[in-house]
Amino acid sequence: NNPPWPAYRGYHEYSFAHATMQSRLPTILGKAIEDVIKTLNDQSDEERVLDLVRCIDRMGDLMTDLSGNAKLRPIVDDGEADVALWNKEIAKYFQGKDFMNAPWLFAEAYKYRRLHECFSISKFWSHYDVFYRQKCDTFSRSSDAVFELSTRFAEPFKLMGNPGAEETLEAERLMFLELTQVCLWGNSTDLSLLINMTEDQIKSLQSTGGDHLAATEKNILGNHLNELWDTVKNMREKTGGRVDFVLDNAGFELYCDCVYADFLLQSGLATQIRFHGKRYPWFVSDVTRKDWDWLLNTLVYGQLFPTASDVELESLRRLGRRWKQYEQEGKWVYEQHPFWCTGYTFWELHAEAPDLFLHLSHSDLVIFKGDLNHRKLAYDCAAPASTPFDAAIGPMASSPGAPRIASLRTIKSDVVVGLGPKGDAIAQKLDEMEPGWKISGKYAVILLSEGRPG
Ligand code: F6P
Ligand code: MG
Repeated sequence: NNPPWPAYRGYHEYSFAHATMQSRLPTILGKAIEDVIKTLNDQSDEERVLDLVRCIDRMGDLMTDLSGNAKLRPIVDDGEADVALWNKEIAKYFQGKDFMNAPWLFAEAYKYRRLHECFSISKFWSHYDVFYRQKCDTFSRSSDAVFELSTRFAEPFKLMGNPGAEETLEAERLMFLELTQVCLWGNSTDLSLLINMTEDQIKSLQSTGGDHLAATEKNILGNHLNELWDTVKNMREKTGGRVDFVLDNAGFELYCDCVYADFLLQSGLATQIRFHGKRYPWFVSDVTRKDWDWLLNTLVYGQLFPTASDVELESLRRLGRRWKQYEQEGKWVYEQHPFWCTGYTFWELHAEAPDLFLHLSHSDLVIFKGDLNHRKLAYDCAAPASTPFDAAIGPMASSPGAPRIASLRTIKSDVVVGLGPKGDAIAQKLDEMEPGWKISGKYAVILLSEGRPG
C-alpha cells in the first residue's frame, strides 16, 4: 500500500531533505537551546534550575546524535499518548536506520519528538515550549497585515442585496476566493525557514490586499479554487456544513485561518468548524493549544501593538470576542489528536488512527494547511508534478469513507503534484529558470479531492 515513487531521504543531496537534515535542523536546535538558556537565567529556585539544566543536557545529547548521524532509538515512555505509535513505527520500519538514511519525513518528525522528550520526562518543565517566544514575537511584528484584516472584518459580514439573489451570490463568491487566498498565503510565514526575519520581510510576505492577491493568483500552480467554491456553496443546503482545519502554523497563519473560518460561519456556508492542532511544540511554529488560547486572549486583552490606533485595537478586540464566543457556543472546536504528532504519512492515517479517520469522514470538507501536511498527504515522495492529487494522496482519496479534502499549501519542499497534464513540463521549466522555486514559498497549490463519502 505504498506509492510507486521513492521517498526523499537525508542523503539525497539533490533534495531539500539534505540541507534540512544537515544544517537546518541543527540550527533550529541550537536556537532552541539558546531559548532555554534565557529561561534558565531567569530562574531562582534551585530544584527547578537543576531540572532545567538536565533538559539542556538532553538537548545537547540530541544535538550530538543529530550531527553525528546516530541510529534512531526508541522514544522513552514519557506517558504521552503517542509513544506506542512512535515505537511501533520505529520497530516495524526503521530499525537500524539513522537520521540520514531514514525517510526525511520520518527523521525530521522524529527530531521534534526527541526534542519534546528532553522536557516531557522532567519534573517541572514537561510543558515547556522552546519556540513559544519566537511565535509570539513574530505575531507582534505583523501589525500591518493584522490590522488590514481586522479593520476590514471586525464588523459582521453584510452582503449586499437579497439572500439567494444572483448578485449576492457573486459578492459572496468573490469574498470566498479572496479569503481562501488570504488563508493560503498566511502559510508563507512559517518560522522554520525564516529564522530572524526583518520587519520588511514579514511585511512583504503578509500583504493581504486585493491587488496583491490578484498578482499572486498566477503563482498558484495547481489551482482548484473554483471547484472548491462549487463544493462549498452547496454545503449551505445541508443542515450541518462541517469544515475541519488541520492547522499548520501559529500566529499570523492561524489568525488568517480564523478570519476565513469566521467568514465560512457567518455566511452560513458552514455551521461548525473543527480545528486540529498539535499536542506539543512541532516543526517550530505549528499551533498548540497554548498558541490557540494565546491568540484569542491576546486579541481581546493583549497590548502587543503599542503604536496602534484605538480603532485598530477595538477591531482586534471585536474579532477576539466573537471568536471566543464561537468557542463557547461549540461552533468552533479545538482538538488535538495524538496522530498529528507522529512520523506517519497520511497514507497510513486510516490504518494507524482509525478513530481519527472515522471522525474526519463525518466532515463535509477537511482543509489541510501548509507544507508539512501536504508532504504527509503525498507521502513525501518523488511523484511527477503531473500526478493527479487523488493518486498522490492514495488511501486518503480512495479508502471507503475518505472525506473531501482541500490542501492549501505554499510550496516549501520537493514534493509537487497536481499541476495538471502539462505539470511535468511546467516543473522542468521552473527547475531551469528558477532553481529554488520549490523552497521559496513563492508558489502554491490549492488542490481538492472529492474523497469517497460512505
Ligand atoms: O522542513 C520541512 C518543511 O516541510 C519545509 O518544507 C517547510 O519549510 C517546513 O517544514 C514547514 O512548513 P509548514 O509550516 O508550511 O508545514
Ligand atoms: Mg508548520
